[in-house]
Amino acid sequence: MIQVAYASKTGHVKKVVEKLGLTNALRIVKGDEKLDGEYVIFTYTIGLGKTPKAVEAFLAANPGVKAGVGSGSSSILHRKTFNFAAENISKAYNVPILAKLDGVGTDEDIAHIKAELEKLS
Ligand SMILES: Cc1cc2nc3c(=O)[nH]c(=O)nc-3n(C[C@H](O)[C@H](O)[C@H](O)COP(=O)(O)O)c2cc1C
Repeated sequence: MIQVAYASKTGHVKKVVEKLGLTNALRIVKGDEKLDGEYVIFTYTIGLGKTPKAVEAFLAANPGVKAGVGSGSSSILHRKTFNFAAENISKAYNVPILAKLDGVGTDEDIAHIKAELEKLS
């Protein structure tokens, strides 16, 4: 399985990673973590459409990103910038978005991500 690095502030992304059974996933906290080789980045969106700073730093320092998974919110507050962190990363690094989740997503989302991760391995 391809490696996974993730950032989670309030626990949604962490829960997704756990549901996928990714016990070796690397949690990004400060952004100075190191990961050799290819990986998929899982991130939430913050600040009305922004990528978390630690995620930006991590991506800049670890060149192997192959795809992204986003977790956002479809609430009225965030609808216009739904999952923009994943969109930002996709554009900046020219990688596909495997899923744009609403919070922890659905069982179907989890099955879809699992299949996509297996394809990348
Ligand atoms: C201050 C703040 C700003 C947010 N801005 C956005 C946003 O622009 N777009 C979006 O889709 N979600 C936004 N969200 C929602 C989070 O990305 C979403 O709840 C996500 O599931 C959090 O993941 P986590 O629990 O792993 O931290 C925002 C949340 C907070 C607290």
